[in-house]
Amino acid sequence: MKTKIAASLLSADMLYLSDELKRLEQAGIDWLHYDVMDGVFVPNISFGLPVLKAISQKTKLFRDVHLMIHNPYFYIHKFVLSGADLITFHLESTSDPFSTIKAIKDYHCQAGISIKPATPAKALLPFLDDVDVILVMTVEPGFGGQSYLHEVTPKIKEIKNMIQGRNILIEVDGGIDQQTAPEALEAGADILVTGSYLFRQEDMKKTADALRNIII
Ligand code: DX5
Ligand code: ZN
Repeated sequence: MKTKIAASLLSADMLYLSDELKRLEQAGIDWLHYDVMDGVFVPNISFGLPVLKAISQKTKLFRDVHLMIHNPYFYIHKFVLSGADLITFHLESTSDPFSTIKAIKDYHCQAGISIKPATPAKALLPFLDDVDVILVMTVEPGFGGQSYLHEVTPKIKEIKNMIQGRNILIEVDGGIDQQTAPEALEAGADILVTGSYLFRQEDMKKTADALRNIII
């Protein structure tokens, strides 16, 4: 499968979001990665429902919503109504991951599950028949602009092997740039999330194409 690029809006210029969306569209970005933080599950607060709704009305880009919130179950329908195409929640954020996946699927949305750097791959085993995406964090969730944690790379490989023939995409999130992307891709990443690196570039299209065309 061709590598997909998911741009993390966390690094966009918040005062000029509609210009930033145009920039992403013109750059041919595949997915819009929307990081929601609640100040409880992670020590930071980002944006939530009204901003997603406004964005959804403005762009056709695929909305990849990454929930870093405690008890995501209670907010699933609101994120769907606000325009999410895929909702990924953290395994560590809920005592009932199965109901959370079911809630997402009941709304005909794609479902993803994410794990923090310290959570082992085998924790995902019970969910492999139910999710569309596994999002592997290669930084501690909460902030953009951190460095890729190389010790997580073997876990990406392990997850790739675990998936076997299933139709699950592996998304890698945190510290992705031209230097670290080959390592994540070689381990099995299908989707690369990029925030601070992408938004810092003058020529976003060139950067996205270069990441997408890395040969491993
Ligand atoms: C971190 C977020 C990431 C982050 C990626 O908690 O989930 O999506 O914004 O940003 P960079 O590419 O700057 O690490
Ligand atoms: Zn993210």
